[in-house]
Amino acid sequence: MEVVIAPDAERAAGHVAAIVAGTLRRLAHPVLGLATGSSPLAAYRLLIDAHRRGQLSAAHATAVLLDEYVGLPPDHPAGYRAFIRRELIDQIDLPAERLFAPDVEADDLGAACERYDRLLAELGGVDVQLLGIGTDGHIAFNEPGSSLASRTRVKTLTRATRADNARFFDGRVDDVPRHVVTQGLGTILEARRLVLVATGAAKAEPIAAAVEGPLTAMCPASLLQWHPKATVVVDEEAAGGLRLADYYRETFAAKPDWQRW
Ligand code: F6R
Repeated sequence: MEVVIAPDAERAAGHVAAIVAGTLRRLAHPVLGLATGSSPLAAYRLLIDAHRRGQLSAAHATAVLLDEYVGLPPDHPAGYRAFIRRELIDQIDLPAERLFAPDVEADDLGAACERYDRLLAELGGVDVQLLGIGTDGHIAFNEPGSSLASRTRVKTLTRATRADNARFFDGRVDDVPRHVVTQGLGTILEARRLVLVATGAAKAEPIAAAVEGPLTAMCPASLLQWHPKATVVVDEEAAGGLRLADYYRETFAAKPDWQRW
């Protein structure tokens, strides 16, 4: 696992945006795995800026979402499809019909989850998957206790996650849906590259557990330890609990060109 400690959140975003931009420039038909929530927003803004300056195109790309709430009206602004259209897709040239998300409207949710995993495979897999981390260590909406081999399925959110996400529902925790469809940990593991971004002191504890704790379902983000090409990008605050912070800084500063991913 590569750990990049950026001096601040803006430079962390710059690193993430550079990875996504590099993927868009390098591949003929890139599949981007997008996260929602606050963590990737600064990187999305940098990508939008690059697009507006004429330096970046996503016209040849496909985007897939990690997760979606169950039970929200399809046009609800906090729904993840609406969120990612507003915050990224509608501001760049990625064709809207090339954005895919779990189908939470299906009568048979279980069958829809299986279809989503099949769709990811049919697309050829995800080239780069962006991730945030929950304060309880979740990635996508795989809460603690999620099987490390899990596939896309319905999950129930913890009280802590619903409280964290109440800010997207005018602070009303009771309005945050209890259920979601999320890519499973086994599904996420199949992406060719994972990039997790976390900023701010509230993420220091889950980041320390994910990066330096045991690989365990109790901290789903620790799954990144099992992936051959995973990068964790943090600012100084989110790096606050890392015992090997100096080593990660030294490693990244001295990274030879031939080692660049
Ligand atoms: C969002 C997602 C979640 C968030 C996580 C962190 O698609 O899958 O795992 O990444 O809850 O959320 P923020 O970034 O808002 O702190």
